Amino acid sequence: MKIKILTLFPKMFDEFMGESIIKRAIDKGVCEIEVVDFRLWSQDKHHHVDDTPCSGGAGMVLRPDILIPAIKDNSSSNTYKILMTPQGRLYKQDIAQDLSKQDEIMLICGHYEGFDERIREYVDDEISIGDYVLTGGELASMVVSDSIIRLLNDAIKKESHEDDSFQNGLLEYPQYTRPIEYDGKKVPDVLLCGNHKDIRRWRLKESLRKTMKRRPDLLLNREFSKEELELIDEIKEEEDGKK
Ligand code: ADE
Repeated sequence: MKIKILTLFPKMFDEFMGESIIKRAIDKGVCEIEVVDFRLWSQDKHHHVDDTPCSGGAGMVLRPDILIPAIKDNSSSNTYKILMTPQGRLYKQDIAQDLSKQDEIMLICGHYEGFDERIREYVDDEISIGDYVLTGGELASMVVSDSIIRLLNDAIKKESHEDDSFQNGLLEYPQYTRPIEYDGKKVPDVLLCGNHKDIRRWRLKESLRKTMKRRPDLLLNREFSKEELELIDEIKEEEDGKK
């Protein structure tokens, strides 16, 4: 997969691309990241990329006569073009999964007050990583790239993301490692017994318990299996017993 990032601050991506899983994925040829400085599309002497809002207001607005040619020159018919903006659709794991199936995506990072509205007509999608405003789309594009790259074949072991939080609509079950006992707190016995059926059922139950407690909104439209409904009854009884 190829990820093209259009930005005014290309150096921000050096560390992101040069460390850990992302670096290994690039080195292994799992993905390619190209960072493009769209200031190069500015024709004037001072390489201005923005201008004041028409009819006044605070801040600066990115100019369409710079960004639109930069988008066109860096994309082909199979490039899925995404504007990073707090006005976009809210980013979730299922969007990461969909995007990981694309051959090529372009992430366009704004800065300053925003994009000239006409730029929106030249992209396929708009994504926000949360209901807050960042100084630019660079961090957001790193979040999106990171979450996509780890889903690509051979970036990490498949099992490592099969049980991720959100992957099956639930938060991930609790994880433990050695030491088996620390500060009087023990790893649950079921995880030490080696009975795979019991472990699978315990993990599903604890995933449900965590999601019910922390993110009940994730369960609102879920079609529960018979086993999940049984486990939910057990959880409710246990939680009532604690009161
Ligand atoms: N640019 C500024 N804020 C953003 C956000 N929340 N998501 C995506 N891009 C942004």
